[in-house]
Amino acid sequence: MAFVEKRQDVNLRTEGNQMEQYAIKGGNPLVGEVEIAGAKNAALPIFAAAAMTDETVYIDNIPDVRDIDVMLNALSVTGVMVKRVGRHRVMVNGGNVHNLTVDSEGCKKIRGSYYLLGAFLGKYKCAEVVLPGGCDIGSRAVDQHLKGFRALGAEVVIEHGLIKARAEHLRGSHIYMDKVSVGATINVMMAATLAEGMTIIENCAKEPHVVDVASFLNSCGANIKGAGTDVIRIRGVARLHGTDYAIIPDQIEAGTFMFAAAVTKGDVTVKNVIPKHLESVTAKLLEIGCEVEEADDCIRVVATKPPMHTQVRTLPYPGFPTDMQPQITVALALARGTSIVTESIFENRFKYVEELVRMGADIKVEGGDTAIISGVPRYTGASITVPDLRGGAALVIAALAAEGFTMVDNVKYVERGYEDFHIKLQGLGAQIELVETEKDFQKFKLKVG
Ligand code: UD1
Repeated sequence: MAFVEKRQDVNLRTEGNQMEQYAIKGGNPLVGEVEIAGAKNAALPIFAAAAMTDETVYIDNIPDVRDIDVMLNALSVTGVMVKRVGRHRVMVNGGNVHNLTVDSEGCKKIRGSYYLLGAFLGKYKCAEVVLPGGCDIGSRAVDQHLKGFRALGAEVVIEHGLIKARAEHLRGSHIYMDKVSVGATINVMMAATLAEGMTIIENCAKEPHVVDVASFLNSCGANIKGAGTDVIRIRGVARLHGTDYAIIPDQIEAGTFMFAAAVTKGDVTVKNVIPKHLESVTAKLLEIGCEVEEADDCIRVVATKPPMHTQVRTLPYPGFPTDMQPQITVALALARGTSIVTESIFENRFKYVEELVRMGADIKVEGGDTAIISGVPRYTGASITVPDLRGGAALVIAALAAEGFTMVDNVKYVERGYEDFHIKLQGLGAQIELVETEKDFQKFKLKVG
C-alpha cells in the first residue's frame, strides 16, 4: 500500500463560516419538543470502522455537524469512497484505499481522526495518523491507544507529529487499560477485530458509543462480546462485510436540551433518545428539583422554580458525563446555596467559567478541577466568547436565561457538535439568531425589541 496523497472529488463540505455569532435575547422559558440527532461520538469511529471492509456500508442517523464533514473528508483523502445519500445517511466503500497517511489540517482539529489508526492497522497492518486535536480541555494523552496496539504486536512510534503503527501480523492479546478511555477502548477494539485469535481488553470504557461501535462491527461480521461492561472479548475474524446501520441518538445533545429546560424554567421534551443512556443526567435533574417524565424514546423535563444546589463529580459512564459538566454548572450557578462541581476526567474544562462570570455568575475554580459555585438569582446578557464545544453550548443556555441581550462569539465550536442548534432552540421559543456583523446584531435587537 503506497503512502500517496491523492484527493478525490466527493463534493463533501468544508468548514463553515468563521465569523458567525449568535445574537440572543434571554428570558423566554423554552417550551416544546425537540428531535435529537445521531451521536457524533459514535458516528466518528463508525466511519473509520466502515472503511475496514471492502464492501459497501450504509450508515444512517448521522448528525449533520462540522466534525462529521471533517472526518468524511479525511476518509476521502485516503481513497475511501464516501457519498452522502441524504442529510443523515452516508454510503462508505473502503475497497480502494490508496493512502494510509492521514495528516490533513482538518484532522489535526478533531479527535475522531485517530480512529483511522485502529481501523487501518487492523485492515492493512499499517497506518499513519496525525496526533489528534479536538477541544482544548486537557492534555488528552494517547498512551493507552499505543499500549493496546503494541500488545497486539504493532510497532508504534511518534515522528514528525504523526503516530505511525505497523505490524507483520496482529495477534490477539490480554490488555489491561490503566485509564478508562473511550478512544483507546474503541481504537484497540477495532484493530483487534481483524487480529488473529482472542483479545481481551480489561478496564474498558462503557459509554453507549463504545457499545454502538461494537454493534456496528458485529453487524459487519466481527465477533465482539462484552461491550458496555468492563471487559470486552474480541475473537479476530479474517474479514468484514457490508451492512446498513443506524447510529444511536446523541445523549449529550439530549442532556443539553434537558438542562436548557432546567435553566430557563421551561418544559422541554427530547425525542428520539434512549432514556437508559441519560440516567445520570436525569438523576441530577431530579435532585435539583425538576420534574422528569420518561417514555420509551422521549424524556420530558419541567422546571417551575430555581434549581436546588448540589454536588457533582464527573466520571466515566455510567457516572455523570464530563461532556455535561458545563451545562449542569450553568444550572447550579442559579441555585440557592453553594454547589460544588468536580471535574475528574479532563484538567482544563472550566474555561467557560470566565465568560459565565461576565454574565453575573459567582464561581471560583480551585486547583483547576473544582468549581465552587455560589448561586445568584439571575444572569445578565454580555458579550462572550465560546472556548470549546460543550462550554459553548452551556454559555448559550445561560444567555437564553439571561436578562437582556448576549452576543456569543466563536460559535463554530458549538456547530462542530450540535446539528441546527439555534434552529432547534428557536423551535422551543428561544430568541436566537445566527449573525455575522455588529450591524446584524443591531437589526436583531430592533426586531425582538
Ligand atoms: C471522548 C469524547 C469526548 C468525551 C470523552 C470522555 C470523542 C470524539 N470525544 O474523548 O467528548 O469528553 O470521550 O467521555 O468521542 N487518557 C489517557 N491516555 C489515553 C487516553 C486517554 O490518559 O491513551 C485520559 C485522557 O487524558 C482523559 C481520560 O483518559 O483524562 C478520558 O479520555 P478518553 O475517554 O480517551 O476521551 P476521548 O476519547 O479523547
